[in-house]
Amino acid sequence: MKLLNNFFQVAGPALSHRFDATAYLLDGGKELLLIDCGTPEGYNDCISNIRKLGYNPADISFILGTHGHYDHVGAAALFKRDFGCKLYLHEADAQRVIDGDGLKTTAWLLYGSSFPPCAVDGFLKDGDVFKYDNFTLEVLHTPGHTPGSVCYILTIQGIRVLIAGDTIYGGFSMHIGSSEERWRESLDKICSHHFDAMVIGHSNPVLLADADARLRDARASFANYYNPWFKNFKDEYKY
Ligand SMILES: [Fe+2]
Repeated sequence: MKLLNNFFQVAGPALSHRFDATAYLLDGGKELLLIDCGTPEGYNDCISNIRKLGYNPADISFILGTHGHYDHVGAAALFKRDFGCKLYLHEADAQRVIDGDGLKTTAWLLYGSSFPPCAVDGFLKDGDVFKYDNFTLEVLHTPGHTPGSVCYILTIQGIRVLIAGDTIYGGFSMHIGSSEERWRESLDKICSHHFDAMVIGHSNPVLLADADARLRDARASFANYYNPWFKNFKDEYKY
């Protein structure tokens, strides 16, 4: 589904499989990028969604992961096998993906599946910038949900979009290396930037407006993210 010119959501519960986090296709002009790529269960539908948009998955050069979880990059080995896509992740989440660690990737912890191990072709660092004809993408290292979680600042058609992964509204578990302290610091870091809009790791295809206000709310009550007894406040946001 098209979110903006050259920016599409291609995986997620409403588009591919209920296990899938959101994944995004970016058309850079000369090559395509994916931000996250969903699970093996959603792989065929994700590929089909890319083709329906008129793109050839073989033109995807890179998968840039938000973090090393099954629902976000579980299908990376399949994209690599079928289309030669390279996977980039922050170094702190790379080993769990290389090993196919079912606990740290949440593959069996949350989904009863196994994680297809995948080589990591490059490490993302805070401040890395990817420049294309149609957009610019900057990496923000935002540990907390996992040690290697990153967000992306997408600047496209003059609009600044936060691609948040699970740093906003993600779950907390010691099993996956979550840290309250690091997460709070990351939320402060995110809130020091201005965003016109944002997308998050688990949602229907939607570009969320009023991002600065939503992010301030998220920072102010972030423990609600992982306390199942609270209704997630994102569901109570009024618009
Ligand atoms: Fe996650």
